[in-house]
Amino acid sequence: MARTKPPAERVRRLREDIARADHDYYLLDQPTLPDAEYDLLMRQLLELEAAHPELVSADSPTQRVGGAPSREFREVRHAAPMLSLNNAFDEADVTAFDARARDGLRRAGRSVENVEYACELKFDGLAVNLRYERGELVLGATRGDGAVGEDVTANIRTIRAIPLHLAKGAPAVLEVRGEVMMFKREFERLNERQRAKEQREYANPRNAAAGALRQLDPRVTAERALRFFAYGLGELQGGAEPATHSALLDWFVSLGVPVARERAVVDSIGGCLRFYQAIGERRAALPYEIDGVVYRVNSRADQQLLGYVSRAPRFAIAHKFPAQEAITQVIGVDIQVGRTGALTPVARLAPVFVGGVTVTNATLHNEDEIRRKDIRIGDTVIVRRAGDVIPEVVAIVAGRRPADAKVFKMPVRCPVCKSHVFREEGEAVARCTGGLVCGAQRKQALLHFASRRALDVEGLGDKIVDQLVDAGLVHAPADLFKLDVDTIARLERMAVKSAANLVAALGRARNTTLERFIYALGIRHVGESTARDLARYFGRLEPILSASEDELLQVPDVGPVVAASIARFFAEAHNREGIAQLRAAGVDWVDAAPVRKPAGPLAGKTFVITGTLPTLKRDDAKAMIETAGGKVAGSVSKKTDYVVAGDDAGSKLAKARELEVSIIDEAQLQKMLEN
Ligand code: IVH
Repeated sequence: MARTKPPAERVRRLREDIARADHDYYLLDQPTLPDAEYDLLMRQLLELEAAHPELVSADSPTQRVGGAPSREFREVRHAAPMLSLNNAFDEADVTAFDARARDGLRRAGRSVENVEYACELKFDGLAVNLRYERGELVLGATRGDGAVGEDVTANIRTIRAIPLHLAKGAPAVLEVRGEVMMFKREFERLNERQRAKEQREYANPRNAAAGALRQLDPRVTAERALRFFAYGLGELQGGAEPATHSALLDWFVSLGVPVARERAVVDSIGGCLRFYQAIGERRAALPYEIDGVVYRVNSRADQQLLGYVSRAPRFAIAHKFPAQEAITQVIGVDIQVGRTGALTPVARLAPVFVGGVTVTNATLHNEDEIRRKDIRIGDTVIVRRAGDVIPEVVAIVAGRRPADAKVFKMPVRCPVCKSHVFREEGEAVARCTGGLVCGAQRKQALLHFASRRALDVEGLGDKIVDQLVDAGLVHAPADLFKLDVDTIARLERMAVKSAANLVAALGRARNTTLERFIYALGIRHVGESTARDLARYFGRLEPILSASEDELLQVPDVGPVVAASIARFFAEAHNREGIAQLRAAGVDWVDAAPVRKPAGPLAGKTFVITGTLPTLKRDDAKAMIETAGGKVAGSVSKKTDYVVAGDDAGSKLAKARELEVSIIDEAQLQKMLEN
């Protein structure tokens, strides 16, 4: 007989399992439990604790959700001051640091050829001091001014990566120093949530982490999923100090304190520079942000010999990466027109050195972004350039706005072609309506025009289109038909033979169908099937050109967005002009058989065809039904009026029987069509 274990025992087991999962995840960086199972354990523990409040303890993982908010943070004086690091910005700074270290050690009587260094990352977060007494976390404090910080223990306790008690072998007092951070992914998510709530976004993960750690309400901190990596020692009592920095970090790990995996011990400053190089290459791929690497004399005895200058150690230095963020001024806003006509505002900046290059402009994404960040021309802004992504304006520097700062307004006409700019409701992007004549969109439009399902000009690929447009030979699709073999053969990598083939292909493309021609125009929201619907409904092009939105709405499957887009396209004089030019260039099409009046004998009826019909091909039967005003669907539902069944009809026939839909054969269909 299965016996349920006593609640105290189950609580203990659950806590052990959760602690092990946390350990694997945060310390070893090797998750061993799927999120869902972790959540389940947590839920079970919460339920047990709710049923047995006497079993709740301060170190239970359930207590990480944060306690009651406080009014302010208590000040705490650090047992040992929290110092800062001197920076090196180039190799010369680094070699000078090494020379000083060797010199210092020699003067202290150590004969050193090369210094052994511990290399690690310089995390871009906030320094904290974690105080453990008899293995229990008793205090978490910010760095503050180095001497006095703030007591943020309640918030620190919500950070899962920070153990609430240390593993066996912890000394009487141990102060662990390290960095609290927000991982990039969590930062993205947080900003997504901020956007959804229409609240201000955080400029970078460090600001977001700082905001989270300095929350008076620990429950808010708990939601922000902060992380922690240790890098140093504060006070130590009742334990032997490790001989080297690398051994200190190993000890932390053995006590259950997370240390970043990216670290190395090297035998000279040359090794430090190689570490810098290697980390620099991996920087973008790291899940968190770093702003450099740190080199420390590895021997702790030697560290003592070297000592400190003012508030920074002589035994360590931060080798910074070129800044990814810089402050500069917005001089103006330019508009870039993309391949689909999307207008992107780009900030013109006073040149600034960011991330190793001089940046003169940065994307502003769209009008809403500009408004949300409240960026004005003349503002001082933070610019970020991460990896090889396009530089962006992160935020303005509040309080530095000149009196004459100008609010940006999206132009009403495309800066390239002067066509109207239109922004669809619910969309962030403003677009140029220029289509075929807009220079920026021309190449893309030409490729679409010539694509297989449009006019199908064989051999007109993007390389040739680029050359034709760049050489000024083609402005609009109609120009394609004026090209001769000689002109094309003069383009790069174009033999006379392929030029002749292209001219022949253009000749063939002149004769097309109305639906292909409509599709080829590249009207937004008008794909092949809408083009077909339009062709069939109106039969000819002229009535489409002059159709009102209301009329367009009568076309099957055309909704308000599509109708508006079509009407807008044909309202532009240059689009009509482009069509006239195509006609003049000899482009011609077969009109469609109009199925305009839904007054045909099958009006309002929906058919499904299944199996092999005795005389009609399925496509023909479909066309006949549609011409008679009926609709043909692909699957049987309650809305189906008739199923036309031929030989070998299968599941659709069965479905029709099940739903009691009328089943007819080809002969019956023919009769209905004749009526
Ligand atoms: S050591 C005595 N190591 O950089 C040396 N600091 O400018 C004290 N930091 O306030 C700091 N990563 O917030 C050290 N691996 C690392 C670090 C690191 C980031 C930050 C820390 C500190 C500042 C020093």
